[in-house]
Amino acid sequence: MSPSKPQRSNGLIRPVPSLKVTSALSLSLISFSDAEELFALVEINRIYLRKTLPWLDTVKTLNDQISYISNCLSEYDRYTGAMYAIRQDGRIIGIIGLNWIDQQNRGCGIGYWISEEYMGGGVITQSCSRMIDHCFSDLGLHRFVLEAAVDNTASCKVAERLGMRLEGVIKDRELLYGSYVDANLYSITGPEWVQK
Ligand SMILES: CC(C)(COP(=O)(O)OP(=O)(O)OC[C@H]1O[C@@H](n2cnc3c(N)ncnc32)[C@H](O)[C@@H]1OP(=O)(O)O)[C@@H](O)C(=O)NCCC(=O)NCCS
Repeated sequence: MSPSKPQRSNGLIRPVPSLKVTSALSLSLISFSDAEELFALVEINRIYLRKTLPWLDTVKTLNDQISYISNCLSEYDRYTGAMYAIRQDGRIIGIIGLNWIDQQNRGCGIGYWISEEYMGGGVITQSCSRMIDHCFSDLGLHRFVLEAAVDNTASCKVAERLGMRLEGVIKDRELLYGSYVDANLYSITGPEWVQK
């Protein structure tokens, strides 16, 4: 695995716009045309998502959803992130993506959520695995990070299933509707992923 594998003439790394995960599952870079479908999914999952994700009160209208997509697209343009719709047979069932890309040190951090009705089916583990492959094998990134609240068992299990190392606990990592929550910090490097 090469330590430098620039995807652009400017030497900066940019994830591809779409990735196939399985014959039914794919990841496609989020776009404005997804706004209504995505907002409808947020609406039906609002109570469930609010238990673990901090942004529900900032996405209350379709316009808020459009602003979110706009932010994601500017981060993609600036090479600092890449957010994807998870599609099963074409329908959006969740979101996954790189919340940050550290071009200097070749690191990145993942975030995700899935509609409650699809939980526990392995979709997030499979989608993460595909993202990790892309980051290490295609983009030449070196370090892949996943943070999950210590009591978010399902998310911590995703990291464990992927063979990621628990590096420690980040104190008061996230402000979740008035309370600070601690997070587990997991990581894996490219060479470690290849050896798995
Ligand atoms: C966390 C989340 C993304 C996991 O997605 P998923 O598709 O269900 O994950 P997987 O099916 O790949 O399952 C991963 C593991 O969690 C387990 N799991 C799934 N739901 C669970 C639950 N409610 N409680 C405990 N474990 C659970 C699965 O059985 C599996 O464990 P296993 O290795 O023992 O089989 C999903 O629960 C979610 O979207 N939650 C709300 C948003 C969120 O918390 N996002 C992550 C923020 S860090």
